[in-house]
Amino acid sequence: MASLLITGGAGFIGSHTLLVLLDAGHELVVLDNFANSSPIALDRVLELASLDAAGRLHRVEGDVRSAADLDRAFTAPAAPITGVVHFAGRKAVRESVENPLLYWDVNLGGTRALAEAMGRHGCDLVVFSSTATVYGEPDVFPLTESMPTPPVHPYAQTKLAAEQMLAALVQSQGWRVASLRYFNPVGAHPSGRIGEDPTGIPNNLFPYITQVAAGRLELLRVFGDDYPTRDGSGERDYIHVMDLAEAHAVTLDHLLQQQGPTQITLNLGTGEARSVLEVVQAFEQANGIPIPYEVLPRRAGDVPKLEASPESAAQVLGWRARRTLEEMCRDGWAWQHSNPNGYR
Ligand code: UFG
Repeated sequence: MASLLITGGAGFIGSHTLLVLLDAGHELVVLDNFANSSPIALDRVLELASLDAAGRLHRVEGDVRSAADLDRAFTAPAAPITGVVHFAGRKAVRESVENPLLYWDVNLGGTRALAEAMGRHGCDLVVFSSTATVYGEPDVFPLTESMPTPPVHPYAQTKLAAEQMLAALVQSQGWRVASLRYFNPVGAHPSGRIGEDPTGIPNNLFPYITQVAAGRLELLRVFGDDYPTRDGSGERDYIHVMDLAEAHAVTLDHLLQQQGPTQITLNLGTGEARSVLEVVQAFEQANGIPIPYEVLPRRAGDVPKLEASPESAAQVLGWRARRTLEEMCRDGWAWQHSNPNGYR
């Protein structure tokens, strides 16, 4: 078992990963400034985790850009820390176009500050949250990790730059690094106790659909039905957040077993893209709730399609996503239904 630092551990993917890592027996320090998350998520994780987990979860409220906050995390009771999972960051594409400096500061500056703290505390292992948006606007599918990465907005640019910075530390310092390129994480823990808690009107398809189902929003707006896709609506590779969480645990096990410099970059997706209209239909069928929608013009910045090749992850980690779109719809709805206002 390892002592691990989880930055951004109270967020959507972070909270689900905490649960999996606690149940695997690890000791964890969570560093989170709750800028886009709630401390209640951590209480809920402990509710779901095994009884002894509370003594293995240490909380540090702080900012990943702050050397002092990072030093507090690295010297928390779980020290010495042998590995880091770095979730903390900003993740909204449009916000990144409007406020690029925030993205360079938090996403790249935060990763640099973390890497410096790792150096100070003798830690050389990190799993980094990257994104499928590094592939820009691709037209060949499925996407493999060696395909070109021409990122088209500051969000993707800052994630790619952080990947490159960490890869340089593998070269120069012999670090063990995994960059995980998430496709579209959705759903929730099947208990409905933890889930995605967006502030304000959701930007993303899944939380928008669940809020229409809950009657909080009147109807879904489908952004474009004239893409060169199966039915004209945008296609994405949706992956259940519990599959994603388990992938982090497997990645950590893999890196912890490596003795020397290691750098892996893996897509995390199912390999099966679904259109907006297919997701709407799957949600209606899974939950028996109609989702009224209207078709609007394309949303600026959206690409027609993203679809992962899951083969590298299967080869390197022996891991594949196994949960279905139906489970994503059912579990996402269970969370929204029992927490109509999220953690508030
Ligand atoms: N869509 C709608 N209506 C909505 C919201 C979305 O039709 O109200 C459509 C989009 O046009 C797109 C698809 O649903 O075709 C998925 O859109 P999302 O906003 O859910 O997801 P994106 O693929 O745009 O981006 C998301 C995150 C990014 C992340 C990316 C890949 O917003 O932060 O997944 O990881 F980088």
